[in-house]
Amino acid sequence: MAPNPAIVLSGLAKSYGAVEAVRGVDLTIAHGETVAILGPNGAGKTTTIDMMLGLARPDSGTVSVFGRTPAQAVASGAIGGMLQTGTLLRDLSVRELVTMVASLYPNPLGVDEVLGVTATAEIADRRTHKLSGGQTQRVRFAMALVSNPDLLVLDEPTAALDVSSRRDFWAIMRRSAAGGKTVVFATHYLEEADAYADRIVFMTRGKIVADGPATEIKARVGHRSIRATLVDADPEELRALRGVLSVDRRGESIVLRCQESDQALRDLLLRYPAVRDIEVTGAGLEDAFIELTGDPAEEDDQRSEGAA
Ligand SMILES: Nc1ncnc2c1ncn2[C@@H]1O[C@H](COP(=O)(O)OP(=O)(O)O)[C@@H](O)[C@H]1O
Ligand SMILES: [Mg+2]
Repeated sequence: MAPNPAIVLSGLAKSYGAVEAVRGVDLTIAHGETVAILGPNGAGKTTTIDMMLGLARPDSGTVSVFGRTPAQAVASGAIGGMLQTGTLLRDLSVRELVTMVASLYPNPLGVDEVLGVTATAEIADRRTHKLSGGQTQRVRFAMALVSNPDLLVLDEPTAALDVSSRRDFWAIMRRSAAGGKTVVFATHYLEEADAYADRIVFMTRGKIVADGPATEIKARVGHRSIRATLVDADPEELRALRGVLSVDRRGESIVLRCQESDQALRDLLLRYPAVRDIEVTGAGLEDAFIELTGDPAEEDDQRSEGAA
């Protein structure tokens, strides 16, 4: 790890009454990394992020951001945060709101530059309570960006958006963070973590259960299954298709658990032109969680039923 990491969380824990929301999180994030905190609802992502931003006080453990406390880092404009909840101040225009936020920081970016890069220039004169969901998230992102932070922390920034608004959002985020910013974002979408993060930190029940490059985590938890109707195919031959991990036959249907479902599907169609009723489904986060934590006694990937 780099000698001066951007973020160091050590032994972080926090309970709300009887609920242990975060149970001993250790995490070091280097400058310039884009890290996804991935996990199902209730995993402790927001609680962790709130402690990173100094909005929640840990019961134990420490947070260091650029060698400072979160409060110091936030006050200096080094952190731009986009929280999971929160509404925009009403009765201001988008431009007025972003200008106001900019005035709170020592070295803000130009307001027009931020409006441009976040695709909010065309709604700059609109009142903040007359925006669509996607527009609201872009404005909230503009507010996070205008302090010109070295670290962007985004808590489920696309949670309520439709697919195309989500894609737009990430395209904008990518563009604006391109200058070497450190980015930490929470999501419960494996696809989003895979597409936009260099590294995935998988949290569940208040703990980190996996941490690694997106490709590695995806390979461990991102298996897809192909279901189809196919009479009289030899399971051994199906298993030999590229990308297939295991084969399950149920009457006339087959289920192929795949490492590489696109490849497997191509081979399946080529080899068995009679195959029909094809469905491809992704493993949900709950499956991923079971796969990662399923049986502590067995640590390899061979434990699931029917694995090759
Ligand atoms: N303010 C709060 N009061 C009581 N319980 C809370 C509060 N915030 C979070 N929790 C609980 O802590 C756990 C972790 O929540 P959270 O950090 O919001 O998870 P995530 O963001 O991964 O969905 C959940 O069980 C949640 O219900
Ligand atoms: Mg949350």
